[in-house]
Amino acid sequence: MTAVTATTADTFRPALHYAARNTWLNDPNGLIHHEGIYHLYYQNNPLDNVWGNMSWGHATSPDLLTWTEHPVAIACDETEDVFSGSVVFDRANTSGFGTGARAPLVAVYTSAFKEPSSRDGIQAQSLAYSLDGGYNWTKYAGNPVLDRGSANFRDPKVFRYDGDAGSYWVMVAVEANDFKVVLYKSNDLKSWELLSSFGPANATGGVWECPDLFPLPVDGDPDNLKWVLIVNLNPGGPNNGSAGQYFVGDFDGVKFTSVTTVTEGPQDPARLAEYQWLDWGRDYYAAVSFSDAPDNRRLMIGWMNNWEYANKIPTSPWRGPMSLVREVSLRTIEGNPRMVQHVAGDLTSLRGHGPSFSLEAVEIPDGQHVLTGAAGSAQRIDLSLVPGTAEEMGIVVRGNGVEGTRIGIRPAEGYIIVDRRESGQTDFHESFASVDTAPIQTRNGAYELTIFVDRCSVEVFAKEGEVTLTELIFPSRSSTGVSLYAVGGTAIANKLSVTQYA
Ligand code: FRU
Repeated sequence: MTAVTATTADTFRPALHYAARNTWLNDPNGLIHHEGIYHLYYQNNPLDNVWGNMSWGHATSPDLLTWTEHPVAIACDETEDVFSGSVVFDRANTSGFGTGARAPLVAVYTSAFKEPSSRDGIQAQSLAYSLDGGYNWTKYAGNPVLDRGSANFRDPKVFRYDGDAGSYWVMVAVEANDFKVVLYKSNDLKSWELLSSFGPANATGGVWECPDLFPLPVDGDPDNLKWVLIVNLNPGGPNNGSAGQYFVGDFDGVKFTSVTTVTEGPQDPARLAEYQWLDWGRDYYAAVSFSDAPDNRRLMIGWMNNWEYANKIPTSPWRGPMSLVREVSLRTIEGNPRMVQHVAGDLTSLRGHGPSFSLEAVEIPDGQHVLTGAAGSAQRIDLSLVPGTAEEMGIVVRGNGVEGTRIGIRPAEGYIIVDRRESGQTDFHESFASVDTAPIQTRNGAYELTIFVDRCSVEVFAKEGEVTLTELIFPSRSSTGVSLYAVGGTAIANKLSVTQYA
């Protein structure tokens, strides 16, 4: 086992994102807003900073930006690892875990059974409950509650369905290797009945994991609800490795029917760009949504990492940050329902916040041009670019003249790119030094980008949040420069504003 030791300079510890203090984390689990607090549980190795000993770590936040770490919530034991799952507030005490005044929080997680369990090798769904608002958890003595005898049945996401078909709990989980989401119903969270299954469809380049299913109004119209099915998959993302796709459709209480399916059965590699992606970058995985978020907001977090190199990223003593929390909604775009995403937390509330640099309507000459006064290592950048004669135009962040991460547009090709080949440390894994792309077109002649830069990441929101790219980077601490650039001609920066965070 690798020893967990504190390094002198924790260069990459995020300023704006959650990371565990000194341990490994992967998927967000059990996301719930309860009694005024956001709870983030997560796949955690309490003993090390590589994957193993899977348990649920725990952090809380009042504002989705500042997080407090708590002791491990649900620990592995000699018979099981505690894999991904969700938490619901069982208001009416349907499970019977509640006592008198207090209704329980119930965690539904995957037991990954191991020796000496008689179920060694099986993945089945189990329960744990909390009567103190999510801090202390007791595993249910009747576990597992749902066992199909499968080795790849995991990641239950449970929600309360109230509709024409009745009122009951619904679980979505995966048969990972069959590229199937399976749906179950229950009245008490303990006994489950199969409703239906969905898949294979669209991207099937890797196992299906961590599903989610929720309703959203289209264009904000409460009379026009559509359901969104989230399916994470690994590998098989649009730029390789782990990624999330989504389907939009209807759920009648029994079956999910997609209106955005492009291909059924095994994927068509030539059509990968037609599938709907939660994020086009390399580092947004296992994203699922919060239960009971206030004001009907649908808030999601992804694990900001990729299984291709997750155990190798050069952070210490911790490993694996979470993404910023995103609010997702549905908008009609060219006649189709599409997910759009925005950062959910109010960053203006953060210490050190204030626009520190801005410019308007400047020509970007051919080459790279450092913006004196714009430097920083935790910042929000709003940039509007208008193409000129340049074949590529954009911005370099976390730069020092030698290294830097290039975020640019290639108008003729209709691509946005994030180029992290010179972003800093890249040699810890052969596939890390990448140029990742997503299709993009102008809106009213301009490309609008909002970019969140942190100590080891960039999150790019383009096309008003319809296209996002999330990428890890590992620059030197002193690489804080921001530059505009144009290649093979000129372009216009209509607007640029850089907001710094401490
Ligand atoms: C996704 C995943 C889940 C599983 C968990 C184990 O990243 O593989 O399917 O529950 O991680 O840590």
